[in-house]
Amino acid sequence: TLKTNIGNDSFDSCMMNASGVWCSTVDELEALVKSKAATFVTKTATLAPREGNPLPRVHHFGPNSINSSGLPNEGIDYYLAALANFEATHPNRAFFLSVTELAEDQIETIMQRVHQSDYHGLVELNLSCPNVIGKPQVGYDFETTARILDRTFSYFDQPLGVKLPPYFDVSHFDQMAEILNRYPLTYVNSINSIGNGLVIEQDAVTIAPKQGYGGLGGAMIKQTALANVRAFYTRLKSDIAIIGTGGVTSGRDVFEHLLCGASMVQVGTALLQEGPAIFARLEEELKAIMDEYGYTSIDDFKGKLKNT
Ligand code: DHB
Repeated sequence: TLKTNIGNDSFDSCMMNASGVWCSTVDELEALVKSKAATFVTKTATLAPREGNPLPRVHHFGPNSINSSGLPNEGIDYYLAALANFEATHPNRAFFLSVTELAEDQIETIMQRVHQSDYHGLVELNLSCPNVIGKPQVGYDFETTARILDRTFSYFDQPLGVKLPPYFDVSHFDQMAEILNRYPLTYVNSINSIGNGLVIEQDAVTIAPKQGYGGLGGAMIKQTALANVRAFYTRLKSDIAIIGTGGVTSGRDVFEHLLCGASMVQVGTALLQEGPAIFARLEEELKAIMDEYGYTSIDDFKGKLKNT
């Protein structure tokens, strides 16, 4: 069995989409619900709908991608309405709503909106979008992150996780984990795309916004993702679950995220490239690896990465 839990919610599988991929419209979310994915997380919603950055804003190269989408989304009311419908038609399933805003007081406004809505399920606060012009990734500002969490947890009482950017220094793992451990977070999701890469073809950049700079995803970010998952798994209180995101293209990659301590694994670039049928393939591949090792459940090996 691939069953797993995040907080008080149970899931029949341990794989789902990463926010931004296959989750912007009700039709896309419906396709995920019908697939072998455990559940879905919505595109990150903002208070008002956004068109996002100019096209082309996503480029694929091999099993990788670069994007500077700029948070195109239908607005929070659209996703709250969609979730109300999915919850009504699937009363035994839990879903994830992703949200953010571009300024601290606006983050408070959108969190209050969710708090006061009829949606009481899982919420993911995206602290790591690299693509809004002039707006730094909040997760790289430790003081601001702590202040946002202070304000949010003064009233917010539904299960909350944060989506973090990748960190590359042990002191940053330590500092961010110390902050996160102060709060009753349900989970931490590592990693968002590696921000502000540059992909060149012929003699030109490959995407239009920001002179070609964009967030990197796909196979090339797996090792950074695993390091972040492991770093937070070994530092956070045991009641904060880890969602592992980054570089998953095979069942073996899912297995490695789980070994590092992830309770759920998200798929972005590869889902965009293969479509929701990818979840059936990943499931088969993961089950084959578990059979080989004699594992019958995720808990048999979750977090149990060995040292040499
Ligand atoms: C967007 C892109 C990302 O890679 C991300 O992590 C979050 C948001 C975006 O531009 O919409």
